[in-house]
Amino acid sequence: MAIKHFLQFSDFTLAEFEHVIERTRIIKRKFKNYEPYHPLADRTLVMVFEKNSTRTRLSFEAGMHQLGGAAIYLNTRDSQLGRGEPVEDAAQVISRMCDIIMIRTFGQEIIDRFAAHSRVPVINGLTNEHHPCQVLADIYTYIEHRGSIAGKTVAWVGDANNMLYSWLQAAQVFGFHVNVSTPKRYEIDPTLVAPDNNHYTTFVNPSDACVGADLVTTDVWTSMGYEEENAVRMKAFAGWIVDGEKMKRAHPDALFMHCLPAHRGEEVAAEVIDGPQSVVWDEAENRLHVQKALLEYLVLGKVD
Ligand code: CP
Ligand code: NVA
Repeated sequence: MAIKHFLQFSDFTLAEFEHVIERTRIIKRKFKNYEPYHPLADRTLVMVFEKNSTRTRLSFEAGMHQLGGAAIYLNTRDSQLGRGEPVEDAAQVISRMCDIIMIRTFGQEIIDRFAAHSRVPVINGLTNEHHPCQVLADIYTYIEHRGSIAGKTVAWVGDANNMLYSWLQAAQVFGFHVNVSTPKRYEIDPTLVAPDNNHYTTFVNPSDACVGADLVTTDVWTSMGYEEENAVRMKAFAGWIVDGEKMKRAHPDALFMHCLPAHRGEEVAAEVIDGPQSVVWDEAENRLHVQKALLEYLVLGKVD
């Protein structure tokens, strides 16, 4: 049977997400009740980081320990990965010594090549094009606060980056709509969106994108790997801050999300991220819970 990977959001069906979400609820409850749950005893997760991380490393490492398994951290600086060992060879070797692998890297083609040569499931912990674990945590967080996300409107204000492409895939799977506003020259790359994805609308004016939204979300103006463009981006994105004015355009009950780390005064105003509509700390915590359910599903299959 083909190995199941989670390389982008569209790799799972709605039924699979519904299972993972239900397992997340159960696993989170056990964690809150200090109830030991060790379905991955003697299993090993290898985490490969080619970019920095706080939340992703912490949530996968803590999560694997809490499930009874072990997590090993590798990075490009002090492994052979940074010295030109072919991705395909690394995949063969790493996947013979563990049960599941998480990778944070640059181009999506790197993780695709790795997965094609892996004997165990591979999870995308962020690439230039996708960040599916974060959007899974965000959707779980939305459901916790407001119930089903089907039929709702999400406003995306900012860069057309990995987070946005995962949101657009999620919209197609879960049946919601994304209002997208990016500055000129930073628009959506149509080659990264399925041709039949009609779950989004683009807006020139970022305030218009927020009108009636149930959730307003944004992300950094300069993602990892694009640092040399920072000065130019700061100018281009100047009007794309999510501030109180833009939140007023949204539904009065709208939530605000940001995958973090955030820059107050750039993509989001302090009054919004630290305000009553913000659920950013829940989003961060839920990375732990959804990824434990994801690890369980990918290693053990459907568990009741
Ligand atoms: N949101 C997120 O993935 O954070 P880290 O870069 O800290 O892992
Ligand atoms: N878009 C950001 C997300 C960081 C979690 C980046 O890729 O740097």
